[in-house]
Amino acid sequence: MQAVAIAHPNVALIKYWGKRAIVGNLPATGSLSLVLGGLSTETLVRFEAGRQGDRVLLDGREDAETSARVTACLDLLRREAGVSDGAVVESRNDFPTGAGLASSASGFAALLVAAAGALGLRLPAARLAEIARTGSGSAARSLAGGIVLLKNQAATTVCTQLATPADWPLEIVVAVTATGQKAISSRQGMTLSEQTSPYYPAWVGSHAADLEAGIAAVRNRDFSALAELSEHNCLKMHAVMLSTRPPLIYWTPATLACLLRVRELRAGGVPVFFTIDAGPQLKAVCLPAAAGDVAAALGAIDGVRQILRSPLGAGARLRAAGD
Ligand code: PMV
Repeated sequence: MQAVAIAHPNVALIKYWGKRAIVGNLPATGSLSLVLGGLSTETLVRFEAGRQGDRVLLDGREDAETSARVTACLDLLRREAGVSDGAVVESRNDFPTGAGLASSASGFAALLVAAAGALGLRLPAARLAEIARTGSGSAARSLAGGIVLLKNQAATTVCTQLATPADWPLEIVVAVTATGQKAISSRQGMTLSEQTSPYYPAWVGSHAADLEAGIAAVRNRDFSALAELSEHNCLKMHAVMLSTRPPLIYWTPATLACLLRVRELRAGGVPVFFTIDAGPQLKAVCLPAAAGDVAAALGAIDGVRQILRSPLGAGARLRAAGD
């Protein structure tokens, strides 16, 4: 009744910000993302016979909101397995948690794989993705590896791997500019945007075209097209965030300095582009040969506290002997 799983966070290039239904946590739009193999979450789940309730430790600490979301996911799995035992969950990230590095995506992907493993459940990938989505909208994308498409379909979402890490070996350089937990979570922030940003309808209305263009750029391995489109989609999401009441300002001065530096590098011929999520970290996506120069350039910027480098990575899995 115990298993350990490993999952990696993912970063969306064509993003999701807003929901079409709270029940089932259905996103308003599809999304396209990269799985960051260099950053990991490791989660142990142990169901204990006769235990009442779950105990959830994230990086050694208990948190009521996270625990409630974990229990909601575990309840769905317990129902599938026909058991009622409570579980002990211990999850650790080797990168900053809750700071715009998609720890919720890798966290819920690892949770689901470990819990299903501990219960001996062999669920279809689509069902696992559906349950992961209730924990975090972007978690289904961490179940698959490489470059992943999450599309809306009828009353659910469908996750497809567009490319494996070997198909298109991109590298991601993360400039960490602040490590504290963000004041407003993605979940709260996107609800506020839906309710108050005058730009929200335009964001949703223009999204399908971005997603189709993103899929085409990945299929054609067209780095320049993906660069222009991803930066546009990212800044459009941040325009919605900035125009939310109260405003969602996730950037630090160093985030903006990194953004300008990435644009300067690309103008000088370096194959790199930026993306930023609901947090202060800037992710620079580059062709592997450029990663060293990009890391050095961003590392030299005032206010950058840490540089993380990551190739594309595999999907969530049970820990194997060599992991
Ligand atoms: O998965 P959530 O509910 O933490 O929301 C993720 C939202 C963004 O990271 C900003 C965009 C995305 O598509 O990942």
